[in-house]
Amino acid sequence: MRHLTPTRLPQRALTRLGRSVPALAAGCWPIAGPCRNGGVDVGWAPIDDDTASRALRTAWQAGVRLFDTADVYGHGNGECRLGVLVAEVPRDQILISSKTGYDARDGHPYKPHRMRRQLRGSLTRLGTDHLDIYAFHSGDFGKEDEYLDAAVDQMRQFQRDGVIRAIGMRAPHEFAVEWTTEPGSAGGRSARRFLHLFDRIRPDVIAVRHNLLSPTYQPGETTIFDLARQHQVDVLIKQVLAQGLLVHHHGIGPLFGPGDHRQRHHWFSPLGRRIIWDESEQIRTRFGNTPADLARVAIGYALATSHDAVALIGFRNADQITTNTSVVTSLTSEDIAVLEAVGRQIRSRLDKAFGIAHTSGRKEPTTREEPS
Ligand SMILES: NC(=O)c1ccc[n+]([C@@H]2O[C@H](COP(=O)([O-])OP(=O)(O)OC[C@H]3O[C@@H](n4cnc5c(N)ncnc54)[C@H](OP(=O)(O)O)[C@@H]3O)[C@@H](O)[C@H]2O)c1
Repeated sequence: MRHLTPTRLPQRALTRLGRSVPALAAGCWPIAGPCRNGGVDVGWAPIDDDTASRALRTAWQAGVRLFDTADVYGHGNGECRLGVLVAEVPRDQILISSKTGYDARDGHPYKPHRMRRQLRGSLTRLGTDHLDIYAFHSGDFGKEDEYLDAAVDQMRQFQRDGVIRAIGMRAPHEFAVEWTTEPGSAGGRSARRFLHLFDRIRPDVIAVRHNLLSPTYQPGETTIFDLARQHQVDVLIKQVLAQGLLVHHHGIGPLFGPGDHRQRHHWFSPLGRRIIWDESEQIRTRFGNTPADLARVAIGYALATSHDAVALIGFRNADQITTNTSVVTSLTSEDIAVLEAVGRQIRSRLDKAFGIAHTSGRKEPTTREEPS
């Protein structure tokens, strides 16, 4: 078995913000607890305020300096909980990222007056006078993009007013520029839509899902990381642990607590978790089989393959933060090749098990866009 040595958190430059931060950042969605939005569970099982505060303080003490949340996480609860830490630490030593665009409770969230209200609410809950990153959380700008121009203008006004520093947006889970020429495929449609919004919004930061189960690309394909580099846009990666799937600490038995959105997704079903468990044997044999071993390897893999992105890692308690901040950066190219081969095999079996259709080699999306 390979013995991987934890190292200090490596630093990454966020060029648009003119700041360097540790490569590992705190994803504060899971500590926001349950949330129903538009009639759908989009949160996580409840945790109490003390557990959330202890975890956030542990993150700060471990050197984490970027904290990511959103107005819809727990419908403000996530921002309130992060606000407790913000009140305890020097504001200029942390970066706060929040988002808007999913709160479905009062008309379209990208109407400018709603954006102004949402931002005021976020600043109050967080106890700050500015956000370092404020992101368009959703790509739904109304019928025929009726709110797109006004929403982008409003974001730029926030930036001019100094209440936000950088503008963010999310990228598709699977993307290559070359797919835009594929007229009939879902991948082509999604890539064209993203590039249209990217061109209109001209973000400073994009958020991308990236983990062991992410697709691998053909030589010559321009990935989201390539695109970001070409435009000198900073990248945050998310779901590095596949929301816990890569850590196996739930085993393959009973499902998640009440309000946990993961209950709705195929990959978290007992069958999905059984496939991932079976196919990961090589990883457990090579790197160790505790949740901590597996979390560190998944984080090490994501950092090694994401071209200097900052990783937002979700957590539910202080122990998870302590484990996750013991980052491993000593993976060899052979380790990476092993991990990628296992990742491909898991995806292929999951796709077969859950009947995912492919068009021009691209996966047809099966779920509607939701906050993440
Ligand atoms: N900037 C943006 O536009 C944007 C967009 C989307 C998401 N995000 C951010 O990305 C963050 C990360 O994504 P995510 O939270 O969905 O997924 P994730 O980081 O892949 O998974 C987080 C979950 O994994 C489990 N876990 C974490 N560390 C563990 C450990 N050491 N041992 C065992 N289990 C562990 C915990 O769940 P359990 O213990 O409950 O299993 C935790 O809630 C989000 O929190 C959010 O802040 C940002």
